[in-house]
Amino acid sequence: LIGSVAGAQVQDMPGGPKVNQLNLHEGVTQITRDVMWLHWMLLTICIVIFVGVFGVMFYSIWAHRKSRGHKPATFHEHLGVEVAWTVIPFIIVIAMALPATKTVVAMKDTSSADLTVKVTGYQWKWGYEYLDGSAAGIKFLATLSTPRAQIENREPKGEFYLMETDNHMVVPVDKKVRVVLTAADVIHSWMIPDFGVKQDAIPGFLRDAWFRAEKPGIYRGQCAELCGKDHAFMPIVVEVLAQADYDKWVEDEKKKMAANADDPNKEWTEAELVARGEKVFAANCVACHQANGKGIPGSFPALDGDKVVLGPKAGQINTVLKGKPGTAMAAFGPVLNDVEIAAVISYTRHAWSNAGKGQDPTVM
Ligand code: CUA
Repeated sequence: LIGSVAGAQVQDMPGGPKVNQLNLHEGVTQITRDVMWLHWMLLTICIVIFVGVFGVMFYSIWAHRKSRGHKPATFHEHLGVEVAWTVIPFIIVIAMALPATKTVVAMKDTSSADLTVKVTGYQWKWGYEYLDGSAAGIKFLATLSTPRAQIENREPKGEFYLMETDNHMVVPVDKKVRVVLTAADVIHSWMIPDFGVKQDAIPGFLRDAWFRAEKPGIYRGQCAELCGKDHAFMPIVVEVLAQADYDKWVEDEKKKMAANADDPNKEWTEAELVARGEKVFAANCVACHQANGKGIPGSFPALDGDKVVLGPKAGQINTVLKGKPGTAMAAFGPVLNDVEIAAVISYTRHAWSNAGKGQDPTVM
């Protein structure tokens, strides 16, 4: 169930190893091996029953046909046969259900994790926040970084195309990683076939799943719940590192965060805020509102010339903080810090309301 065709396609990329797209793939966790074993076990039982039942039926039809002088049997009931066809299927169903139930219980057991990461689905990107251990406090968004035109104009048509993201989740090898999933707007689904994980991310709910990846490497998945126009452009990339490399990554990430930390007590000049806001806009807003602020006509509003951006009203800050119910505009209050919010508002006002009109950008 978990492997699915989409999962198999992920590995079968131009230039990559050809994989058998008809089967699940092995994966790198005990759960994926259990699922694979269940899949073969159940399929084998089904095939044996199918061949047995239909074999007897077709043989009987052919061997005992009327033209050979056979007559239908006339006996009425047979206790032995009835007991057999009740008891044997019962035993088969129990034999199938026991290991399947064991695996389902193991899949749901998220206790005693070594690391917990909160994963949030947005239209159309993933947010990661490390909640405990040495990585606690690390958070970032992971957005498609492969240019859309390159994906849409790919040759040959219909081939799966490798999609990269600007950031990706990094975890240590052989550690139990618990992911706690939610969503900011609509239902998304976090699926990594190689880990045997597929869990819906639902607004207002927290659902968890876990994996223990046994081999370092880069593993890929995709949003697996139709979530709007760019559902197909929400790739998931997880890098599994040896413990020492993971510790190094945590250290580097922390250094990077410290270097980029926005000091809310600093006296920010307008120019500094605008410069910072340009980066915030590029990381969070361009997907919908475009780099030039023109939006996507019919889908996403333009910000240049927008009344809220132009006006001195509190409307814009509320839209950024709380999102806009009923639209794709997510609440950025939980995502951005105070400086980033001030910066992105300064930037949009500067870029599309005052700039080019000879106005002082500091006048709102
Ligand atoms: Cu998010 Cu589909």
